Amino acid sequence: MEKYRVGVIGATGMVGQRFVSLMEKHPWFQLVAVAASCRSAGKTYEEVVSKRWAIGGSIPEEAKGLTVLDAEADAEKLASMVDFVFCAVDMKKEEIRALEERYAKLECPVVSNNSAHRWTEDVPMVVPEINADHIKIIDAQRRRLGTKRGFIAVKSNCSLQSYVPALHPLKKYGIERALVCTYQAISGAGKTFERWPEMVDNCIPYIGGEEEKSEQEPLKLWGRIEGDQIVKADGPAITAQCFRVACQDGHMAACFVKFADGKAPSMEQIKSDWAAFQGRAQELKLPSAPRQFLHYFEEADRPQTRLDRMLENGMAVSIGRLRPDTQYDYKFVCLSHNTLRGAAGGAVLLAELLCAENYITRQ
Ligand SMILES: NC(=O)c1ccc[n+]([C@@H]2O[C@H](COP(=O)([O-])OP(=O)(O)OC[C@H]3O[C@@H](n4cnc5c(N)ncnc54)[C@H](OP(=O)(O)O)[C@@H]3O)[C@@H](O)[C@H]2O)c1
Repeated sequence: MEKYRVGVIGATGMVGQRFVSLMEKHPWFQLVAVAASCRSAGKTYEEVVSKRWAIGGSIPEEAKGLTVLDAEADAEKLASMVDFVFCAVDMKKEEIRALEERYAKLECPVVSNNSAHRWTEDVPMVVPEINADHIKIIDAQRRRLGTKRGFIAVKSNCSLQSYVPALHPLKKYGIERALVCTYQAISGAGKTFERWPEMVDNCIPYIGGEEEKSEQEPLKLWGRIEGDQIVKADGPAITAQCFRVACQDGHMAACFVKFADGKAPSMEQIKSDWAAFQGRAQELKLPSAPRQFLHYFEEADRPQTRLDRMLENGMAVSIGRLRPDTQYDYKFVCLSHNTLRGAAGGAVLLAELLCAENYITRQ
């Protein structure tokens, strides 16, 4: 099979490095270009990242010799070299919005890890197991942008990629509300312990903007297409507190769920729903899709961040400790890998979905 030619914008950063490493053995995608800020442009990828390679393993051979392009100044060149780009940059929101729209208008599809376009009404925000059908809004987005190929699709925030998948198969019973506390790894801030020594032996009870994303983004995922926009769902209402904890990778969440009166399923039913759950990613057998999306652990002390974050290459969600609660119906814990399922891996899976459904085609 002829591979899709892929560019990574923000390739030198924490998420960008993940994208580059996920391209290494990808059966459909071939990395052909990397871009970052003007600070890195003109140097080889190896020169720029050798001292800041932060994700374990080594820099892929195919990436080492690529010359880093300037994502802004070289946009036309980059867009002409690739079938689509991944984007994960640390810039002001309005600058990211403009950059991503520029690539889309250059007829280059953008699969984005950034939050800048998550609330643009005709930009699909997709977890392929949950709301794959939202990609149909791309037709409306292309009409607005005046493009034939170009569009922007985004993934949702990393904080919610454990508890939303766990709640999703239970929505059919009528969830009234949920409460979550998240315990988020430092790579979620693009950091390592060397670069953030204050995080050693520490817990910080604040991550700017994260609680609002954790409460609101699930409602867009559970929303519906109406005309030229995605309208968010009315509920279930979620309240969240988000903490930064001293883990390198892996976001844990403690989740409490209350069903409408008399609607609570049994614990056995919930476990069986989790075990049986399959989404569009599994139906299409996408290369990065976990075979079993939701794994339930019976052991009382699982899931654990270090032991379980890499389950199914970091693309599965681990759940445990389901039990009755005194104020909600049930409580449980869940875990997902924030830079794999929650960031680059989730975006790669979304790109696979967009290729399989013919929204991304070869130029
Ligand atoms: N880390 C996570 O787990 C995670 C999860 C979900 C979402 N995100 C989001 O993903 C994005 C990237 O996060 P990160 O953790 O990878 O950040 P990071 O490690 O700080 O990397 C930032 C990247 O952006 C590039 N950049 C900065 N200014 C630029 C400019 N003016 N033009 C082009 N490129 C520019 C940097 O290039 P230089 O090296 O040249 O400066 C670098 O490649 C952010 O929007 C973040 O919110 C991160």
